[in-house]
Amino acid sequence: MNPNNTSPVEHKMIRETRVAQLAQTGAGTPMGQLLRRFWHPVALSREVATGSAKAVRLLSQDLALYRGESGEPHLVAGRCAHRLTMLHTGWIEGEEIRCMYHGWKFDGSGRCVERPAERHCREANIRIGAYPVHEYCGVIFAYLGEGEAPAFDLPRKAVFETPGMLLFQRKEIWPCNWLQNVENSLDAVHVSFAHQMGKVGAFGEAITTEVPALSYRETEAGICQTAVRGGSQVRVSDWTFPYGNHVNIPGVDPRDPWTEVSHWMVPIDDTRTMRLALFATPSTTPEADSKLVSYYHGCEGYNSADHHDDLFAGKYPTDPLIRLTSAQDYVALIGQGVIADRMNECLGASDVGIAMLRRILTREIDLVAAGAPTKAWRRLDRPSALFTEAGPQVTA
Ligand code: FES
Ligand SMILES: [Fe+2]
Repeated sequence: MNPNNTSPVEHKMIRETRVAQLAQTGAGTPMGQLLRRFWHPVALSREVATGSAKAVRLLSQDLALYRGESGEPHLVAGRCAHRLTMLHTGWIEGEEIRCMYHGWKFDGSGRCVERPAERHCREANIRIGAYPVHEYCGVIFAYLGEGEAPAFDLPRKAVFETPGMLLFQRKEIWPCNWLQNVENSLDAVHVSFAHQMGKVGAFGEAITTEVPALSYRETEAGICQTAVRGGSQVRVSDWTFPYGNHVNIPGVDPRDPWTEVSHWMVPIDDTRTMRLALFATPSTTPEADSKLVSYYHGCEGYNSADHHDDLFAGKYPTDPLIRLTSAQDYVALIGQGVIADRMNECLGASDVGIAMLRRILTREIDLVAAGAPTKAWRRLDRPSALFTEAGPQVTA
């Protein structure tokens, strides 16, 4: 018997439930409720042209994202209140969206403002869900929680707002749960192995294959991860709650400046993750800038999932950086299964960051379940220096 007086079978069942809860995203789950207290990237700005709409799914909720004729984005429930067809298939009129099935029209606050075939009926107070959005640096963020949205904030905001920075955005959609994507961010050891696969590339060459000594510390924003290789090569990264990771990567060409990247592992639902990244590179010369722009544009359409069979057959992309590192992580994470079976793992001492993450997530969802306040995460006043005397850090 264990201290809680439960039998081994009961104990295993409780543990199974608690482990499963960590990966869940639905509104009715403790983790889904916790995640709804944050802003989430929901799409790239360029995916929604003025006067058009797009179906999106976030935290297991179907939504319609549209841009009104003013250029403002709006986010409403994915299905029409009438007979539930998908709203993004309709028309945009001004700042409103009209359903293609029978013409009901909704404004950006979710209010039904017109029902063409019900003109002679009493006005009904019909609403669908509507959610705050915020567009920033080419990314549209959304808040799906209750009540007023928290102030929009971003780790390392100053970098993205520095004049002279070239900004790039890209995303991939992978058929696996968000939590294994997050755990990968807190696993510096994988860099020495997964990122040496296929063809090493600029990223693999920038690090040694030596296994790092690791330490992790909970901060006001998330977890600070330090990996030391060779006794002096110190690399620090800021992981931010609930799924951000802020790292520095080498340039494609050794003469290019290093690039700062914010990664978000956005839960589409329990079995799909949108990995969205925002890159900031200092502008240098017009020639180098235009080379970089065409490199990033070339990466825009790449989604590792489209190359699944090739990647699992060991055929990696020839690109030395973005596509290659993405493909290497893809093989490792998809290889874990759609939702990693955490009941059958065998964690070691080097998984201390993952263990810390799970303890924090468990603590926070227990607070949600108890109706108690959760930790007030906030942006670090002074983010960890990604560059150390020994050079930039390259955890991905
Ligand atoms: S289903 Fe939308 S108007 Fe009928
Ligand atoms: Fe990686």
